[in-house]
Amino acid sequence: MLVLGIESSCDETAVSLVEEQPGSAPRVLSSVISTQIPLHRLYGGVIPELASRNHSTNLPGVLKEALRQAERSIHDVDVFASTAGPGLVAALLVGNTAAKALALTARKPFIAINHMEGHLLSPFIDRPGGLVPHLALVVSGGHTLLIDVQGVGKYHLLGRSRDDAAGEAFDKVAKMLDLPYPGGPEIDKRAALGHAERFHFPRPMIHEAHLDFSFSGLKTAVLYTLPTLVQSGNPHDLPEQDMNDLCAGVRQAIIDVLISKTMKAAKKTGHKVIAVSGGVSCNKALREQMAEACRRRRIELVLPPAHFTTDNAAMIAFAGFLRAQIGDFSPLDTPVDPNLKLGGTKIRS
Ligand code: KG4
Ligand code: ZN
Repeated sequence: MLVLGIESSCDETAVSLVEEQPGSAPRVLSSVISTQIPLHRLYGGVIPELASRNHSTNLPGVLKEALRQAERSIHDVDVFASTAGPGLVAALLVGNTAAKALALTARKPFIAINHMEGHLLSPFIDRPGGLVPHLALVVSGGHTLLIDVQGVGKYHLLGRSRDDAAGEAFDKVAKMLDLPYPGGPEIDKRAALGHAERFHFPRPMIHEAHLDFSFSGLKTAVLYTLPTLVQSGNPHDLPEQDMNDLCAGVRQAIIDVLISKTMKAAKKTGHKVIAVSGGVSCNKALREQMAEACRRRRIELVLPPAHFTTDNAAMIAFAGFLRAQIGDFSPLDTPVDPNLKLGGTKIRS
């Protein structure tokens, strides 16, 4: 079985081909991404109309390149999968409509994939034993979720952010410090040069028994700290080291909460496998500290390779592959949904 996946929910136009390998995990034959980040950076965030227009322009070339790299023809594809939400509606429509048109023309099945399910399953793309029941922490720009995963489509939401998602917190603090969009990688880069212990930012809800998160207080804490460092309160007047120390303090506050809640969830559920995914799981310090926390508790940690953490189509094709294996195809009139739910649970954060 050969699955073609298309992702266009935000600012990446991506196409990937994933092929079944007898007796082992499916292989990602190609994963091509055309990013619009430099374009949206000019505006400090994603402009929906620009995103959808550029998906339309970029998709044909990305599709052609993905097929070329995979050394397959469009006629070899058995299943067409695409992101149906959550995301920007006009952006979603581009990839989704293309996948449906290809499926209709080729008389092959179509599968609508939840973007968060793509992230959720992505750590297992390369895992030799495939998907196993586990505890998932999904940390992206729009969501922070703790999920008990029992199998494909069997998801139980344990906790989520009550306000800003972890990635959103990185992005908003970066914006406040006038650092380029997206903020996560920028704060990460500066944090590596800073001292995390200099500023102790709040770690909301860390000691509470429930598994929800709250990250919106971080930007307020940074806002109040700025004038204590420079009279003007202008981040451009901050000495380089102060800026790096602020970034390190913010990164550590987010990491501490993520790890603490994840370990609490592992204890509660008894899971011995934890998977972390989404754009924030690209963060090296989070990866290292989560690995250490898991090692101490004899828990297996499954992480996607860095190139499958931020938005990509391999995770969509892989989720499509797993859904196709259980015959879970979608009718061609399945709509896109900017607030698509995962497994019957509303997952807005
Ligand atoms: O999963 P993703 O690519 O898109 C969504 O589905 O939202 O995640 C994007 C988020 C952004 O908030 C970005 O700032 C964050 O992931 N991010 C990072 C890093 N790389 C990307 N956050 C922290 N450290 C990073 N290295
Ligand atoms: Zn994403």
